[in-house]
Amino acid sequence: MTLHETFTRNEAGLAAVLPLLKQRFGDRMQTGTSIREQHGHTTTWLANQIPDAVVFATSTADVAETVTLCAEHRVPVIPFGTGTSLEGQVNAPAGGISLDLSLMSRVLKVHAEDLDAVVQPGVTRKQLNEHLRDQGLFFPIDPGADASLGGMAATRASGTNAVRYGTMKDNVLALEAVLADGTVIRTGSRAKKSSAGYDLTRLLVGSEGTLGVITELTLRLHGIPEAMASARVSFDRVEDACQTVILAVQVGLPMARMELLDALTVQAVNAYSKLDLPETPVLLLEFHGTEAGVKEQAEMFGEIARDCGGRDFTWTGRAEERSRLWQARHDAYWATTALRPGARGLSTDVCVPISRLADCVGEATAKAAAEGLLAPVVGHVGDGNFHMLLLVDDTVPGERAQAEAFVGWLNDLALSMEGTCTGEHGIGQGKRKYLRREIGPALGPMAAIKAALDPQNILNPGKILPPEG
Ligand code: LAC
Ligand code: ZN
Repeated sequence: MTLHETFTRNEAGLAAVLPLLKQRFGDRMQTGTSIREQHGHTTTWLANQIPDAVVFATSTADVAETVTLCAEHRVPVIPFGTGTSLEGQVNAPAGGISLDLSLMSRVLKVHAEDLDAVVQPGVTRKQLNEHLRDQGLFFPIDPGADASLGGMAATRASGTNAVRYGTMKDNVLALEAVLADGTVIRTGSRAKKSSAGYDLTRLLVGSEGTLGVITELTLRLHGIPEAMASARVSFDRVEDACQTVILAVQVGLPMARMELLDALTVQAVNAYSKLDLPETPVLLLEFHGTEAGVKEQAEMFGEIARDCGGRDFTWTGRAEERSRLWQARHDAYWATTALRPGARGLSTDVCVPISRLADCVGEATAKAAAEGLLAPVVGHVGDGNFHMLLLVDDTVPGERAQAEAFVGWLNDLALSMEGTCTGEHGIGQGKRKYLRREIGPALGPMAAIKAALDPQNILNPGKILPPEG
């Protein structure tokens, strides 16, 4: 099956639909240039491709009406949460309507006794956790940004806690979504498991707005652990830090967070977040459990780290210190972007089986250094997942091409180690060519699903599936 990529704008359709949307939504439909620019891609080196208008939805009915009107006129609809995705997911290569869901920001229900919550898609992860705190519950998935839960489901996000709590695929129980013809469907239920037919919840999770617009989510919650401790340990070489992680995972230590920052990232984070970490590769850890359990885990981890050449292992249970450290980790993307003023970040995100992690990070950092590329590394290394952010100055001839070639090489390296071209940032526009390399003939069924659910290709066109699918 071929899915043709048409970046030709449907001018007639746009001319027809814009006044209808204006009539329907009034001030909640905006066409000002800056608001449209804010709704294109703004986070990395990828070009900003702006939509023709932004509709601010406040209900599922708003979403269904917008999609129905756009379907009648064959105009693209691009769902938008907080715009913090890194692979061009919110861009509008053929123009169309950015459907902003940020006003749908109500926590509808918390079922504390069942450990689940029903939320609208514009609720952010921090808003949900504020809401839950008094009940002793939390939602663990934490990408760097304070992203919306709808966007996080759409991109199958993860973050620092995934090593213990899984990713969005493990923590979304049910969804409500609007399909490309305006139909509203519900997938899944509040039951913790089901064998009722195709798993449409997991099909929509990670579909990046190409199969439906998520309008409500039922999420799995977790009890706030009795005790939490964070730790850090420094290394001379990233490979030794990775080796520590491999051993800790292999012995089954139930780590809640295992994050690697290379020396360059530590330097950036110290400057950006006013910390004074030793400027060598570091592992930041977190342990969840009982007081005794946390202490035991921290001590066991400390021993493994020392055997692998770790230095200055320290740990703390103090909440303030912990949150300062983790906020700094979450800001690492912005911190590293600031390392080279005037440069744009070309971010990449690969994930390999844990036993290959040290080889993959080691080869990647050695090659970047040999090529003179500024490419700080941060990683959710307990999952075998790490990011490199290549800092590219477009005014230096050849630099962008060199960085792109490096990213291609790194993705091939991860694939050669039986890994994937993205652990958590998704495919969007930036990773489409690697998806082909990764899954080959399985692109056929993916394109068939897309064609069945969105035959006019109006839902977030130009994302995930490579041209000529
Ligand atoms: C992080 C984002 C970039 O890990 O995924 O900081
Ligand atoms: Zn990440």
